[in-house]
Amino acid sequence: MTKPLRLGIAGLGTVGVGVVKIVRRQAEMLEMRTGRPVVITAVSARDATKDRGVALSGYAWESDPVALAKRDDVDVFVELMGGHDGAAKDATEAALATGKDVVTANKALLAIHGQALAETAEAAGQVIRFEAAVAGGIPVIKSLTEGLAGNEITRVMGVMNGTCNYILTRMEATGQGYNALFEECGRLGYLEADPNLDVGGIDAGHKLALLSSIAFGSKPAFDDVQLQGIQRIELDDIRHAADMGYRIKLLGVAQRSPRGLEQRMTPCLVPANSPLGQLEGGTNMVVIEGDAVEQVVLRGPGAGEGPTASAVLGDICDLARGLRIATFGQPATTLQEIPAAQTGLPAPYYLRLALQDKPGALAKVAAELGDAGVSIDRMRQYGHAESTAPVLIVTHKCTSAMLDIAIEALAKTGVVDGDPVALRIEEL
Ligand code: NAP
Ligand code: HSE
Repeated sequence: MTKPLRLGIAGLGTVGVGVVKIVRRQAEMLEMRTGRPVVITAVSARDATKDRGVALSGYAWESDPVALAKRDDVDVFVELMGGHDGAAKDATEAALATGKDVVTANKALLAIHGQALAETAEAAGQVIRFEAAVAGGIPVIKSLTEGLAGNEITRVMGVMNGTCNYILTRMEATGQGYNALFEECGRLGYLEADPNLDVGGIDAGHKLALLSSIAFGSKPAFDDVQLQGIQRIELDDIRHAADMGYRIKLLGVAQRSPRGLEQRMTPCLVPANSPLGQLEGGTNMVVIEGDAVEQVVLRGPGAGEGPTASAVLGDICDLARGLRIATFGQPATTLQEIPAAQTGLPAPYYLRLALQDKPGALAKVAAELGDAGVSIDRMRQYGHAESTAPVLIVTHKCTSAMLDIAIEALAKTGVVDGDPVALRIEEL
């Protein structure tokens, strides 16, 4: 009989249980497809007494994931605990040190320690796979490293955090504010243990850093991702964007230019009739552009037990078949350190200001924008009951650096309360 591929699974939460269920339910199919049995030999989680809704008695139990990672009867260490340090990192390192391949869904771990882990793995002849870490059930890493391997990638874009897309699309559909929908996400179990990872754009920023690395052959550089969360988006922004034919999305964009590597994960206005503009609820979408293929659009569930476990199984099946692709699609030692682009390509921007309602206030705003070289395309002032009026401005194309200068100057005019909200209008 062919040698089985033996899995040790650390983490039996949403994703871990999903993986156990598929391995049990689809044993015959997995063997047919990979040519060898795929079996679980040992599992680990914190609480050995918890009922997880799936039979675990046939597997050895390890309370310490590092011990699980070192077991002789494990070929592939499946890390599904989460966190960029602590148990996840220690156990992954232990697995690599004892000759195991690793499959993980942990974007934080790889965005921060991916370069070092990939170098360690490749020096030892081991493989790290992480399809489930980016855009849940969408096989985006497989698409980049395999199907699109013949392309020079020119741009990668996408909506990669389902929670943020759920909040933004529900704000528009229901007229509820950000806070009410944030609380709804908590009740529905959508939020990460630290919700700022979702709404602060960090989770999606981790994912973008990983895709950038594969797409552009660069060392993963999460610290270079320009991040902005969705916490300051108001219903007025969503309504005004809709009036102009746009939707607001937490959009990731990565592209390489002579200025360096641009990576941003920020709320942007995108055309409402574009595939990204039409994306509803917790669904994710990744758009990949390459010199030969032109454009590929991938859409699917970005989270949840089934979709995420589906991606983990894709990696496990590749290992069972003997497919061994370098972590970031090329040897980790050949990844380049590409400097971060200091300023993005010019684009129109949407600006919302709280303007004091007094004579000459608007003229001061127009003057400061003009002095910074920022030209106004459209402007609207909404009705208001307080001493400040919401003023919404769409600029002609300018750079983010020009806009930053204007915003800094606006703060000194004495007629603008608080920090303006500035959102890039992305041309797709
Ligand atoms: P989860 O439901 O919170 O489960 C985490 C599991 O890890 C739990 O079983 C927990 O044990 C175990 N664990 C945590 N620390 C441990 C430790 N020190 N030692 C042993 N076990 C430990 O998390 P999840 O949603 O399944 O996510 C797992 C990973 O997948 C994360 O990296 C996450 O970012 C990633 N991911 C998740 C999704 C998703 O939709 N949920 C999607 C894409 C990627 P106990 O159960 O005993 O507490
Ligand atoms: N918190 C993530 C999201 C889960 O909302 O998309 C999957 O990474």
